[in-house]
Amino acid sequence: MDLKKDASKADKLEDLALRRGFFNQASEIYGGAGGLYDYGYLGTLVKRKFENTWRKHFLSEQSMFEIETTTLMPESVFVASGHIKNFLDPTTRCKGCGTIHRADHIIEEFLHETFEGLSTEKLTEIIRKHRIKCPKCKGELEDAATVNMMFPVTIGVGEGIKTYLRPETAQGVYVNFKRSFEQLRKKLPMGLALVGKAYRNEISPRNLLIRMREFTQAELQIFFDPQHIDKHEKFHDIENYKLVLYSIADRKSNTITEISCSDAVKKLHLPQFYVYYLAKIQKFYSEVLRVPKQAFRFKELNEEERAFYNKIHWDIEIFVESAGGWKECGGLHYRTDHDLSGHQKISKQDLSVNIDGRSFIPHVLELSFGVDRNIYALLDLAYREEGDRIVLSLPEAVTPFDAALFPLVNKDNIPQKAEEVKKFLKMKDLSIFYDESGSIGKRYRRMDEIGVVNCVTVDHQSLQDNTVTVRNRDTMLQTRVKIENMFRKVEF
Ligand code: GAP
Repeated sequence: MDLKKDASKADKLEDLALRRGFFNQASEIYGGAGGLYDYGYLGTLVKRKFENTWRKHFLSEQSMFEIETTTLMPESVFVASGHIKNFLDPTTRCKGCGTIHRADHIIEEFLHETFEGLSTEKLTEIIRKHRIKCPKCKGELEDAATVNMMFPVTIGVGEGIKTYLRPETAQGVYVNFKRSFEQLRKKLPMGLALVGKAYRNEISPRNLLIRMREFTQAELQIFFDPQHIDKHEKFHDIENYKLVLYSIADRKSNTITEISCSDAVKKLHLPQFYVYYLAKIQKFYSEVLRVPKQAFRFKELNEEERAFYNKIHWDIEIFVESAGGWKECGGLHYRTDHDLSGHQKISKQDLSVNIDGRSFIPHVLELSFGVDRNIYALLDLAYREEGDRIVLSLPEAVTPFDAALFPLVNKDNIPQKAEEVKKFLKMKDLSIFYDESGSIGKRYRRMDEIGVVNCVTVDHQSLQDNTVTVRNRDTMLQTRVKIENMFRKVEF
């Protein structure tokens, strides 16, 4: 695979998304608003499959549970979590046209480098040094400042109660930790997952589903005893597994290191508990989502770049050609007791646990994924053109349908036989797209561009010997198989 950037691919993906029903601008009949997208019927199927595949991979271990919490949370939650004080984006206003830009983004666009986590003073210095002007009107830019990214919402009438739309699903889990701990087995480690919406008032939403104002996160908070951070009971299963890392040292030489999990512990001094989940995440991308090796890496963040709540922070990055290169699609965050201690202090509730006579506040390892951003990255990786044939080689785990079913013609009892085959496939719990219109060639093309792997055709021979042809999206090979021997649902 060639790692190149291709902005024109974004237009092609958007065109496909609109034509076929993956996603479109929200409220588009009213002109829409930046950073808000709706999913069409195919996009919704892909999103559900992604979420369920994620659940299957990360929540199948013992002591992993899923909860659902509200998206509106009182202000105190975010005082405690530190979001009121620290969840800020750097901005700069144009003195000419008044447009407010994200300061680090316009520097990035100008210098073609990433500038995350710099102070406003440093950003102002870079703007001045490189004489960066407003990209809209070439006007002079004001000194960089900051704005809070959360959406405030007053609930109730009159004075009401000040709440915010949650900027991450994580806080819904933290405020429920103690109750869930009591309801479950009162044991650590304990994982609580939440798949749901998060909201951020992004100054410059862009790259379609990459930077949105309302988006879905799939996050897993693992609560554990900090005294056990240097061990994981299943570490021996992955100790020789090779991680693809882009550490702070690698960033200087612009190289990628492949290192076994045991060496990541020994040489990089990462805790075993943390490394176990790096491996778990990488396996999700390589074995389940089939992301090519060259398009995946973990990027270590330095102290300036790390989120304010993290002590160890590696981003999950995927190379997204149409969005300009490596994009953060998730992260593995060691949040210590930052959040639970914050909530204990502000809520005045005791959030400590007592295990074997020792009382302590659990620490948290957070596995955080942006669902929409991952879906966009997968669409980008899957899209290819072969002459006038568009193929979306999505991994089976997230294809909108498990198979397509075509009666060759609409006569001679073939539709009736196709119905029989449909029932058989449904019994196997496969999702089927039934298409009876147009030539078989056209029907194959329609399925190729939405990513369906197998197309099953019922023809005259099917009536004679109970066989069908199964045509594969990637090889385009057709094989004749007995109906009763047809594929099983892919298991992960
Ligand atoms: N709970 C930790 C947390 O929220 P984050 O790095 O801010 O960490 C996690 O966000 C993931 O959510 C990101 O890696 C990204 O995939 C997704 N995400 C964040 N902001 C987003 C946005 N504006 N639009 C789409 N996805 C976003």
